[in-house]
Amino acid sequence: MKRVSPLFLVLLVLGSLFAAYNLLTMIIHYKTSSSENWDLSDPIIRMPENLKEGGGSNSKYHVALTATDAPYSQWQCRIMYYWYKKVQDMPRSDMGKFTRILHSGKPDNLMEEIPTVVVDPLPEGLDRGYIVLNRPWAFVQWLEKATIDEEYILMAEPDHVFVNSLPNLAHGNHPAGFPFFYIKPAEHEHIIRKYYPKDKGPVTDIDPIGNSPVIIRKSVLEEISPTWMNVSLRMKDDPETDKEFGWVLEMYAYAVASALHGVRHILRKDFMVQPPWDLEVGKKFIIHYTYGCDYNLKGELTYGKIGEWRFDKRSYLSGPPPRNLSLPPPGVPESVVRLVKMVNEATANIPNWDTFNRG
Ligand SMILES: *[C@@H]1O[C@H](CO)[C@@H](O)[C@H](O)[C@H]1NC(C)=O
Ligand SMILES: *[C@@H]1O[C@H](CO)[C@@H](O)[C@H](O)[C@H]1NC(C)=O
Repeated sequence: MKRVSPLFLVLLVLGSLFAAYNLLTMIIHYKTSSSENWDLSDPIIRMPENLKEGGGSNSKYHVALTATDAPYSQWQCRIMYYWYKKVQDMPRSDMGKFTRILHSGKPDNLMEEIPTVVVDPLPEGLDRGYIVLNRPWAFVQWLEKATIDEEYILMAEPDHVFVNSLPNLAHGNHPAGFPFFYIKPAEHEHIIRKYYPKDKGPVTDIDPIGNSPVIIRKSVLEEISPTWMNVSLRMKDDPETDKEFGWVLEMYAYAVASALHGVRHILRKDFMVQPPWDLEVGKKFIIHYTYGCDYNLKGELTYGKIGEWRFDKRSYLSGPPPRNLSLPPPGVPESVVRLVKMVNEATANIPNWDTFNRG
């Protein structure tokens, strides 16, 4: 038997350490390409190299939906919960239980219908009318007081509709998020540096994401949430930041907070489909109906101009949309048709849809 020289062993150990170090720096310094350069045929835009092979984590995730008691939030939550129940037990789903985190400070009339935990809103005036600033505080409180069986959490929003079975897209301590084309930390370096000083690393460390949708290990979210809250309040407090980030301030706050904790997200383009911009649902997991869908009767998009046919959640600020919305005219993309059909299916089956919240 050949003797292995001690020098060889030393080199072997150094070699593996070097490889591990490379992998680590690669994960840490991996630069996100600009959205224009993303390969849209590959739903996974960024994945740490060592995770590319092999399946994801099999641990279940808890669906956590932050919401208010406003009728506008309530009708969306009812539809959201309806589709959760439909897809929860589908093959390949890792969905666990569901909680609506109600950050209005008191129970509302959906407590029986949707599993809900009530948390406090921010002290009077702190959100300055920017309600979503309550989200990080809601998560901090919920994580502190709730017993959560699952190891992972999906942070979801009322205007999400589950359209396909959703596996746990996170891997170990790497959460999975959706890359938003309008979150561009590198283009706001002068602002970002107020919260992410140079010694922390390049601004490209900051993922182009918001807190939702994100699937994240509970222990990692427990670390990030207080920082997320702190950063979002400081950003809101700084007039320059407030002006520059506007309605996406809280998304930047989450992105910066996670980077401050050294957390990089796996970016999943297939996490959501956003009608009317994305035309087909395909194998995507969530329909996000944040944009208005306006079409003329020829099926042409008239974005920014009220269409002869339209579906826009903002048409229903004070109460739910009626049952059986009219389907779009021929020629309208499948994603929009699918969305309206899913809304209609939910409203047809949810008891008291027509009478609930109607003044
Ligand atoms: C955020 O954290 C910093 C440093 O820990 C602290 O000085 C500051 O008061 C916190 N700000 C808020 C709004 O909680
Ligand atoms: C829904 O509306 C269509 C017309 O837009 C009508 O033909 C159909 O019968 C309605 N369905 C129900 C269940 O009310």
